[in-house]
Amino acid sequence: MTDKFRPLKDAFGRFATGIGVAACRNDDGSFSAITINSFTSVSLDPPLVLWCIENRASVFPAFMSGDSYSVSILRADQQAVSERFARYQPEALSENEVEIWATGAPVLKDRLAGFDCKISARHKAGDHVILVGEIVQFDSAQGAPLVYFASNYHSGAGE
Ligand SMILES: Cc1cc2nc3c(=O)[nH]c(=O)nc-3n(C[C@H](O)[C@H](O)[C@H](O)COP(=O)(O)O)c2cc1C
Repeated sequence: MTDKFRPLKDAFGRFATGIGVAACRNDDGSFSAITINSFTSVSLDPPLVLWCIENRASVFPAFMSGDSYSVSILRADQQAVSERFARYQPEALSENEVEIWATGAPVLKDRLAGFDCKISARHKAGDHVILVGEIVQFDSAQGAPLVYFASNYHSGAGE
């Protein structure tokens, strides 16, 4: 079947991005996570970021009901992590592969940078919802990023 959105996806895909895993804690204590490349820094004061979640994503209800999320930015050697959370019903995040920071959202232990955010706004936008988060805790490390360009993974040069 042809994908009628292929030409638009191809154009969007010319914007190279890093890759993150957005995650949240559910009411029952379990975690939900999804691979994202729509992450964007928004504001320094207050410190804000955003990313967009597709309405049809299986983890959509989890990110709509909670009041916080984390985003872990992936290293160049973490393609398997990206693929894991880009699948329908991925194997759940376990306690021993995450750290819990201020909001209770799980941050991947292995990361290039981490952001722990309180959700400050949700904006409906077509077939996605824009999730704006106020950063309450963050860190960053040295290393090379996992890069997504033209529907393929690449290794960024790093520092
Ligand atoms: C590199 C990459 C970036 C992605 N970025 C986003 C994104 O920003 N927002 C989103 O909702 N889905 C994004 N996705 C898709 C989701 O990761 C994926 O569709 C979803 O987790 C699949 O699970 P589902 O079938 O349960 O929806 C991305 C996928 C990949 C491979």
